[in-house]
Amino acid sequence: MGTVRIAFLRVAPGMAREVEGESPHCHCPTEHLHEEGLVMAKGKDTQKDTSGIGRRFVLGSGAVAGIAGLGAAMGLNGTGSKLHAATSGGLSAEVRPGELDQYYGFWSGGHSGEVRVLGIPSGRELKRIPVFNYDAAYGWGTTNFSKRLLKGKQSGDTHHVHLSYNNGTYDGRYAFVNDKAQARLARIRLDQFVVDEIAEIPHAQGTHGIFPSRHALDGVYCNSEFRIPLPNDGRDLQDPKAYGALHTCVDAKTMQVRWQVRVTGNMDLCATDYKGKYSMACSYNSEEGVTLAEMIANDRDYLIVFNLQRIEAAVKAGKGVQIGKSKVPVLDGRVGSPYTMYIPIPKSPHGVNVDPTGRYAVCAGKLSPTVSVVDLEKVDQAFEGKLKPRDCVVAEPEVGLGPLHTAFDNKGNAYTSIFIDSVVTMWNIDKAIKGQNPVLQKLDVNYQIGHINASMSETKDADGQWVVALNKFSKDRFLPVGAFRAENDQLIDISSGRMRLEHDASTHPEPHDAVIVKREIIRPAKVWDRNDARFDFERKLAAKYGVTLGQDTKVVRDGKKAIVFMTGVAPVFSLTEFEVKQGDEVTIVLTNNDGVEDLSHGMCVSHHDVNFGVSPQETASVTFKAGSKGVYWYYCPWFCHALHLEMRGRMIVS
Ligand code: CUA
Repeated sequence: MGTVRIAFLRVAPGMAREVEGESPHCHCPTEHLHEEGLVMAKGKDTQKDTSGIGRRFVLGSGAVAGIAGLGAAMGLNGTGSKLHAATSGGLSAEVRPGELDQYYGFWSGGHSGEVRVLGIPSGRELKRIPVFNYDAAYGWGTTNFSKRLLKGKQSGDTHHVHLSYNNGTYDGRYAFVNDKAQARLARIRLDQFVVDEIAEIPHAQGTHGIFPSRHALDGVYCNSEFRIPLPNDGRDLQDPKAYGALHTCVDAKTMQVRWQVRVTGNMDLCATDYKGKYSMACSYNSEEGVTLAEMIANDRDYLIVFNLQRIEAAVKAGKGVQIGKSKVPVLDGRVGSPYTMYIPIPKSPHGVNVDPTGRYAVCAGKLSPTVSVVDLEKVDQAFEGKLKPRDCVVAEPEVGLGPLHTAFDNKGNAYTSIFIDSVVTMWNIDKAIKGQNPVLQKLDVNYQIGHINASMSETKDADGQWVVALNKFSKDRFLPVGAFRAENDQLIDISSGRMRLEHDASTHPEPHDAVIVKREIIRPAKVWDRNDARFDFERKLAAKYGVTLGQDTKVVRDGKKAIVFMTGVAPVFSLTEFEVKQGDEVTIVLTNNDGVEDLSHGMCVSHHDVNFGVSPQETASVTFKAGSKGVYWYYCPWFCHALHLEMRGRMIVS
């Protein structure tokens, strides 16, 4: 039945084959019910989701109600997922018109420099949040606020997006994302889904893995992948052994860099425990080499564990040193230091992920077909000198060729992405520790999977519903579009205790990682608060010239500067004409005075490379130089009214 339904709803994922175990078709004894459900679903268009739990079903609610009685008769408890698992073989990615998704997905955007927000399970793209990139849709990179954060840089490389935590689960306040290209960490506030701070990491190149504290809004830990001279000021150019890499703590509240710890080797992916005791980094270059051959020479590299209590105490005691011009205290955490532990892991390990119980960290071997399970309780003892670091590894099962990352369900199972084999390996942690064969299933994915994650997997509230495979190659899965192809994110239903491929979704290159978050955790604002600190610059500017922001319409002249304060209410700007002199420094301050949800305006000034949006009750400003003499129409780029095209005015340059 699964195939029939999928064929009806969308292009079938197809080509999926299970290496082990049973084929993924439905085992339901009452297959005819699906057909009835399908017919009813066809007839029902817009099912409003009012359940809170929501409707994960392809069936219309009438059909669900109809089958619910039968479910009860079959001894089921009548809850959504059990009923669905029993009657149709699993979850559906289908979200009917007018319905809402169950989860927010936060996707990194890779070298596009952005973060994307998807609805899951549908895979519908809800927003692209410009972070390190330029984006005329919102004016990011154009507005004075964004220019202050970006400092003239126009590109970035986002790999890992993680949300802020409280007590082991997401608190819905922030998302954090790295910039590998220019060593930055951005914070996105999740009331408005906009970047509000960007921290620059000193003495860092290849800022790759990041992870926030999971016990509270505390630190965000950032790993340097590339070793460089410290400081990188022309010294040690041809002496790679003198290079170093730093593990950095950024204060999640202030976004100030708190401290750094120098390591032996390098660092790749990052994780934190659930108690606030440890941050961790997989290290693949224990050789401290600079060529590929040098970097893969050793059979074992490391999981580096950072003892946060010791580090914080040492920093407080003034034991940090400053490097170069940076004021950030740096501790020496190289092999033998009390701040770190180096747990030997085969070979060039990549991902490190902590399971939802908080007890185990799983390192994926990359060049070893194994994952290493590290017992964090043993790490406590090892830091006290009672155990050797390697004794913390309690299992090392073989999972396939090229294991990269691991996600978790709520049943003690792990899902490891296997790059070379192009599979996801589902395995049981407990069985691995007991020395039994832990591999439960291998599912083909298409193709060359990189990251993997599961719904709520990075929290203690992992719910065992969905896994997403982020595949680096899509090959023949989508319409070809020239030599650069889309990537392929595949949604896998794990609710039944087995993996079943449910949905393919093409993505713009190239997302690296994603997290899937229950929608009730996120509390988006509907309009802006006019007193938001984001508008401080404009408020101060207005106060300086005796203007009430969002109320007064005024052109202020201050020498060669012209400051233009105006408001917008659909379909008019409060100012339809202003005059400046050629070469003037013009600042346009625009407030959207509409308070209606979803009624955005913006400001595009012809031939001046000025284009930004203002959502309801938002203020933004742009400063630019007036061009050569002439008339330049400015207009609202967001379709806001039947008379949207008339929402414009003239900038007269004389
Ligand atoms: Cu305002 Cu279009």
